[in-house]
Parts: sequence; C-alpha cells; structure tokens
Amino acid sequence: MKIAVYSCREDEIHLFEKYGKEYGAELVISALPPTKETAHLAEGCQAVDIITTPVGRDLIDIWNGYGIKAISTRTVGYEHVDHEYAASLGISVSNVSYTPHTVAEYTVMAMLMSIRKMKAILTRFIGQDFSLKDIRGKELCNMTVGVIGTGKIGETVIKNLSGFGCRILAYDVYQKDSVREYAEYCSLDTLYQESDLITLHTPALPETCGMINKNTISSMKDGVILINMARGVLVNTADLIEALEKGKVAAAALDVVEGESAIYYKDFKYRPVGHHQMAILQAMPNVIMTPHTAFFTDEAVGDMVRYSIEHCVKNAT
Ligand code: COI
Repeated sequence: MKIAVYSCREDEIHLFEKYGKEYGAELVISALPPTKETAHLAEGCQAVDIITTPVGRDLIDIWNGYGIKAISTRTVGYEHVDHEYAASLGISVSNVSYTPHTVAEYTVMAMLMSIRKMKAILTRFIGQDFSLKDIRGKELCNMTVGVIGTGKIGETVIKNLSGFGCRILAYDVYQKDSVREYAEYCSLDTLYQESDLITLHTPALPETCGMINKNTISSMKDGVILINMARGVLVNTADLIEALEKGKVAAAALDVVEGESAIYYKDFKYRPVGHHQMAILQAMPNVIMTPHTAFFTDEAVGDMVRYSIEHCVKNAT
C-alpha cells in the first residue's frame, strides 16, 4: 500500500523510513503541509498521514476523489480534522496514543518551575542579578493540586505527583479506580475552590472550550496557579490576562494558547509574531510559555510515527 506523509520534519524522516519498511508500506514523504495545493501528493495513495494542519471538507473531497480510504493524524487530539465529514464519505480518521509520560513529566516540571518562580530566577541570572528579592517559592508537598481530566495523561500526572506528598483532587466525567488510589475525585466546583494549583488535561470539546474564564477563575483561591499543557481553547486568554494582572492568578504555565496554530513550530526570530495576547503573557515574569513542546521526546515521536503508519495500513487495506 502507499501512504502520503505530510508535514514530515527532519527528525521524523528516519522513523518513517524504519516503520514504512516494517509495515510494508510505500511512503511519499513531504515536508509540506496538507493543503489544496499539495493534495495531489496523495494521488495513487490509499492513506494520508498528517499532523496538526487543519483538514476540512475541500481537502477531504479531493482526497476522496483519489480514493483515499484513511486519514491518520499522528497526534492525540483530532479536532483539526473534519472527521464527521470524512466518515460520511467512508474515510476513516484515526489518531494515535503515545507515551503519556512525555506530557505528564513536562507538566510536573511546569508546576515546579511555576511555584519556584523559575522564569524570574533564570532571567535575572542572565542579567547578573543574584539577589533574593521576590523569588521566594513554595513547596509542592504543602499544596492541593487539582487535576482536570484523568485520561492517560492526567492519570500519569497524578501518579507522578503522588511522590511529592501533596493533596490531589481530580475531576473527570469518567472516574477510574486506578486514579482513586492516589487522588480524591470531586466536583469541578470543589476542585476550583480548594486547589492551590490547577492543571488541565482534557480535550477540546464544545463543553470544555473556555472552561477557564472570568467566572470559574473568580471561584478559585486567590493566588491560584494555572497549568495548561492540553489545548489553548480551554482557557479564555483575555480573562486569564486580567486575572494575572489583578494577582488573582499568581502564576501560569502555558504550553498551549488560543490562536497558536498560526505561529507555533515556525521561526519568528526576525519578524513580528502578531499574537498580541501572547506578547502580554510572555512579558509577565510569572508566566512560563512554551511552544506546544510537551509532547516532544524521542519516545513520543517514535510512537507517533509508528502508530500513524500502523493505522494507515490497518484502515486502508
Ligand atoms: C497532540 O498529540 O494532540 C498534541 O497536542 C501534540 C501535537 C500538537 C504535536
């Protein structure tokens, strides 16, 4: 079978070559993203392998005309693909599941960096300011951490946190016994009211978009710390900025932000980024921003490539 691989980064090429061979698939590998202009790369293929670029009806129609049977996104989230439309044409859309440790470990790092004021410490060190003023931190072991979403990543965050001795509250519509060993499930309201630190691990769904907003923030503790390694749309960015400016939210760590798809994974060294809210957040000493890199480890990238090829082979033959 033949698979068109889009948006292939240099660090993925050898993995595609390896797993293409292993699964007996011929690959058309391109660094270009899937667009109407690059749709033709999939001519003669039975499946396409994509990453984060939005895929809508226009593109799906073209691929359908080529006889594409499967779209495989090498991401956990798949909200960027119009999967309902694809399904209506009989095209399967699949996502991958990669090691949850990559995002879970990054989350714990972001928590520790936030409570120890690491952005201020590191930037001040560069300016040779070795004073102690305003950089005194707190200890995680004395905190209540609220974990929203106890899927694979949220559960792994909870297990990782269990070694620190903090109290852990959890919220999810689906509850798991394996999580109950380390955390106390509670209502979202209780989690908001009692947590010193809140971390989001829930997908972008109509009911979760904007869940962190003026109202929900007002029900949180004064000085709460927010961690978002999941999806930018979960947080109303304007409301978060206001809460940070007022000191209601003491610190935030954001690997994702609303409107990131136009900027992340691109180099803006010598040109304006044009994301005004990001510029405001990035200027704050108590906000850590990273460009959606929580997933980026050797292990996870290997899983992403391998399982995306496996799904193409399974679903298109
Ligand atoms: C996902 O896999 O859903 C991610 O968030 C990582 C991806 C943007 C590369």
